[in-house]
Amino acid sequence: MKFAKEDATYLSERKALSQELGPRELWSVIDHWPLYCGVANLSRFIAISDLLRSVLNVPGHIAEFGSWRGGNLMFMTKLLQIFDPMGQKVVHSFDSFEGLTQFSAQDADATAQRGRYAGNLAELEAFIALYRLQDTITIHKGYIENTLPELLNRDQGLSFSMVYCDTDLYESTKAILDGLHDRLCSGGIFVFDEWNYQSYPGETVAVREFLNAHPQAYTMEHVARARQPSLVLRKR
Ligand SMILES: C[S@@+](CC[C@H](N)C(=O)[O-])C[C@H]1O[C@@H](n2cnc3c(N)ncnc32)[C@H](O)[C@@H]1O
Repeated sequence: MKFAKEDATYLSERKALSQELGPRELWSVIDHWPLYCGVANLSRFIAISDLLRSVLNVPGHIAEFGSWRGGNLMFMTKLLQIFDPMGQKVVHSFDSFEGLTQFSAQDADATAQRGRYAGNLAELEAFIALYRLQDTITIHKGYIENTLPELLNRDQGLSFSMVYCDTDLYESTKAILDGLHDRLCSGGIFVFDEWNYQSYPGETVAVREFLNAHPQAYTMEHVARARQPSLVLRKR
């Protein structure tokens, strides 16, 4: 796999350095974050920023499916604060906070990852409160296969400009695409974190089936400069 060798070297060297330096106070790390952040991570966040900025003029809210500890959720919400402070857009977060649990045959060997990425809702809510983002973020706790149809049924007017798909698995990705095809505005984007990733084939299979069902509705865009996200579908 591309980068596997240099990743392994970097991860072992950074572990050794962190052991040598000893524990640091949380906010002293955060306030100097470029010192600690690797370029793979940095390029991911630059790509996500570019994508969010590309939909600022598209009507509709932002959604993230699979928020885990909330890093990307908070990043996108803070970008809205910076780039669209007077706008109406809010961010909807969908997660069971149980980690990966809902597997199908299409997920193949990913079943070995059961329970990975379990989150902590109370901790995430504490950070949302710290940054006064309670009015901008709405969390929908539960399985997406249930919470999304319930929300769409309850709120018939809800529309989106950017939908970040990061649950890694087939059924939830299918539920997101089928549920939001009609609710994504023209020019809006579905963004995928694990598309074309060998270790999580279900996400790619769900995207392929969706594109077969809607062959003319989207253009596929590569995300330059970042390993993840790996695909954007932009609605015509
Ligand atoms: C890879 S993590 C998300 C990472 C996060 N977007 C980030 O950038 O830090 C996957 C998340 O999807 C959630 N998840 C997976 N399948 C789900 C489902 N069917 N319903 C709700 N949440 C689900 C898991 O609980 C987990 O938090």
